[in-house]
Amino acid sequence: MTWLTNSSIGRKVVMSVTGAALVLFLLFHGTMNVVAIISEEGYNMICEFLGANWYAIIATMGLALLMVIHILYAFVLSLQNYRARGRERYAVSGRQSDVEWSSKNMLVLGLIIIGFLGLHLYNFWYKMQWVELQVNLGLLPHEAGIDAANGIKYIKDLFAQPVYVALYLVWLGALWFHLTHGVWSALHSLGLNNNTWMPRVKMISNILSTLVVLMFASVVVYYFGYALGATYAL
Ligand code: HEM
Repeated sequence: MTWLTNSSIGRKVVMSVTGAALVLFLLFHGTMNVVAIISEEGYNMICEFLGANWYAIIATMGLALLMVIHILYAFVLSLQNYRARGRERYAVSGRQSDVEWSSKNMLVLGLIIIGFLGLHLYNFWYKMQWVELQVNLGLLPHEAGIDAANGIKYIKDLFAQPVYVALYLVWLGALWFHLTHGVWSALHSLGLNNNTWMPRVKMISNILSTLVVLMFASVVVYYFGYALGATYAL
């Protein structure tokens, strides 16, 4: 199993497999969030289900582990690429047109995404699952957990503020660029790299990334509109 850490292809496989698992999480999380547009009660039921229950906590820990591995390997791969280019990098003067902007900036895009993720976890997870966990452990009084599964309340409060709407849309823009290249690169590394599959892989990664981002963005825009509507109705 040492090839997974010691060889360049092994590291790419780890990057691709953890990335694919994270995309599955995003598809699940995005679908769950679209429910917020369809039914407020339905959304809060899902939040209740995904609160501080043992299975949800195990899933959260699994997700955290996936992210840590994905990020650590990102640094290792970037360092390896940087070293491999050696002195050559100084010989390249102009821009390489065949290398897309996002492919050269995956690490930077990833870091931007993590930064916004920190803000996002503070906006939701810290006020929900984290609070419920502390209530369950007796570290906080029962009343403190009254809104711990009220996801819709936090969505309405947050996306009524234009600054958060803008921040979340910038975040989703960065995620789109990261995903289009990430999905393409993962499928490529996992073997779909012949002439027939290359254009298809490009198409699949664009459709998947756009779908994920649109699911999240629709909630942001819908609840911003909802807040505007509520303001004008007054
Ligand atoms: C409109 C956009 C989004 C909304 C409304 C939203 C909503 C939420 C809510 C309500 C929770 C807390 C669930 C709980 O603790 O019970 C949560 C957790 C989380 N969100 Fe989001 N989310 C959005 C976008 C995203 C995006 C784009 C990502 C990743 C790039 C993301 C990653 C996470 C993660 C990692 C957690 C913690 C999951 C866990 O506890 O297992 N979210 N989100």
